[in-house]
Amino acid sequence: MTKIIFATKNKGKIKEINAIMSDMNVEVISMEEAGINVDVVEDGTTFQENAIKKAREIMEISGLITMADDSGLEIDYLDKAPGVYSARYMGEDTPYNIKNSKILDIMKDVPEEKRTARFVSVIATAIPGGKIITTKGTIEGIIGHEIKGENGFGYDPIFFVPEYGMTTAEMAPEQKNSISHRGKALRLMKDELKKELGDL
Ligand code: IMP
Repeated sequence: MTKIIFATKNKGKIKEINAIMSDMNVEVISMEEAGINVDVVEDGTTFQENAIKKAREIMEISGLITMADDSGLEIDYLDKAPGVYSARYMGEDTPYNIKNSKILDIMKDVPEEKRTARFVSVIATAIPGGKIITTKGTIEGIIGHEIKGENGFGYDPIFFVPEYGMTTAEMAPEQKNSISHRGKALRLMKDELKKELGDL
């Protein structure tokens, strides 16, 4: 079984990706499981730059195929902020109920048609030898008028998906994974890896 590192400290992401990759002969392991404890500085200005940087640095240390992702929320009315700065927006340690309330406040008089937003996820895979593959997934929505839902994390309680009539924080985890930016990017990456690595 081929081991692939997913460059994250988030165990939930490892579980999600192993579920998506379950029909391939690969085992996706965390950095911790691979015995790697480094913090890659995410100083890129695009999701793609950050994802590639993380994947490449960890591949160079581990010598194993390495995947990494970078994601965030783009709000059109705020010129696509917080974007790549989603985690750091209003301060890394500021609780999301405060960040989300502040965004709702900034947007309180903004009409529906100008509340468009999307979650974006870019996944990069660095293959020893130097090849880099990237895939991108997005989910479109609008910024709601109130904080709603207990599931998910981050900006989910204010991200309303009109087709489903609810925020991504109101969705069950499997439902969110099946339509989310990260789920889409991961499934595209799986197809790319099958092409690149053959029948694993
Ligand atoms: P990361 O690149 O996965 O660490 O995500 C960066 C930041 O983007 C997170 O800390 C959240 O603020 C935001 N974000 C990314 N994906 C989601 C999501 O699915 N729901 C809510 N917030 C998200």
